[in-house]
Amino acid sequence: DQHDFGLVGLGVMGRNFILNVADHGFSSMGLDTDPEKVSALKEEGANVRVDGTTDAAAFVAALATPRKIMLLVPAGKPVDAVIETLLPHLEQGDILIDGGNSYYADTERRITYLEGKGINFFGAGVSGGAKGARRGPSIMPGGSKDAYEHVRTIFEAASAKVNDEPCVAYMGRGSAGNYVKMVHNGIEYGLMQLISEIYDVAKKGIGYSNEKLADLFTEWNKGELQSFLVEITAEIFQKKDDLTGKHLVDVILDKAKQKGTGKWTSQNAMDLGIPVPTIDSAVTMREISALKDQRVAADKLYHTPSIGNDKPDAKTLGHALFFAYIVSYAQGMSQLAAADEEYNYGLDMETIAKIWRGGCIIRASLLEDIRKAYDKNPKLSNLLLDEDFIKTLKTIEGDARIVVQFAVASGIPVAGLSSAIAYFDAFRSGNLPLNLIQAQRDHFGSHTYERTDREGIFHTEW
Ligand code: 6PG
Repeated sequence: DQHDFGLVGLGVMGRNFILNVADHGFSSMGLDTDPEKVSALKEEGANVRVDGTTDAAAFVAALATPRKIMLLVPAGKPVDAVIETLLPHLEQGDILIDGGNSYYADTERRITYLEGKGINFFGAGVSGGAKGARRGPSIMPGGSKDAYEHVRTIFEAASAKVNDEPCVAYMGRGSAGNYVKMVHNGIEYGLMQLISEIYDVAKKGIGYSNEKLADLFTEWNKGELQSFLVEITAEIFQKKDDLTGKHLVDVILDKAKQKGTGKWTSQNAMDLGIPVPTIDSAVTMREISALKDQRVAADKLYHTPSIGNDKPDAKTLGHALFFAYIVSYAQGMSQLAAADEEYNYGLDMETIAKIWRGGCIIRASLLEDIRKAYDKNPKLSNLLLDEDFIKTLKTIEGDARIVVQFAVASGIPVAGLSSAIAYFDAFRSGNLPLNLIQAQRDHFGSHTYERTDREGIFHTEW
């Protein structure tokens, strides 16, 4: 009567995920150093085959071989600490799955370290927050394909479903799972920033009340903008504060925290030489938000422009958001395609879009269109080159410009939206002014240049 599945780290995510697995008929065992968390699991799991312990040896001994052990502990040192705790008890062929937001290079290091001991280690991004973990997340596993076969049925059962298809699939070799999850979070940062800018334009620029904003986002969630983040945004505008009776959103401090995944996406995109400016600006805006004291001081020192005259209507706002949504996914997907080449992951872009359609934070009906684009052309270098997206973008780009113009004229910061337009405009410019940069480089540093009219490398004594 050994257990099918083990889970280390019985915080909210861990407890919810192990209960989800147990609900699907897999007998499960949890491990946590905190006895209260173990009791909480046993209580909540009273009706399913789930047990818990604070003892690592007992935990490992209770699992059927090859052992399938998932770690849901904070990224960084805690993951290494848990590995060291388990290691003396594990046997060749056992499988360790890191379900946290671990940095992909850490996963590579752990794979190599554990390979030497005969243990299969793999990183599996898990998205969907606490509710997703309980009712069905999107899962992005990467590592040894053979090892994945041992956990596949468990993950497929526990994951979200879209048209009966599980939102989990083998992503690729090595750290592919953590890498895909990292870029998922980069896109998440981008979409959240864009929504907050549209909120700012609608509220400060046009005078929308929270009630009207709730209606607007509710309406949007029925159309092309249908997505988890738009849906929860509508709910947020309706929520009243228990302490003051005011709208809760209005009493929340405007400093956004971050745990690193968005920043890593930007950093790694820079390393790959792939532009993801909308994700970059989302990270930058969280950094600017943290400078609250300086912002408040500067607010008094500068004159705020008066609100522009040409106020965009709701439809124009929606088009602008949809435009920038598409551009955000396009940037993230282009980064994944480049990372696939650089790290030899073996990613399949259509599969990624497919498993993101449900369960995860960036789930959106748009992902079905993205999936179709990669189904038509698996080697598509950028979504902006897909003929269906070209049609869509052509009809809404004008509205995105209207919103950016209005925001800039009114002094409302729209770093994400304007970066999306700038990226789009640069991407569709057959000629950019960077010939001048090459001339300058050659002028001051003899860095040479290429020509448009003949082959070769040239240098001029300017
Ligand atoms: C998810 C989320 C999850 C986490 C974010 C928050 O997919 O379920 O992405 O992993 O909530 O990483 O990130 P920040 O704290 O950096 O905003």
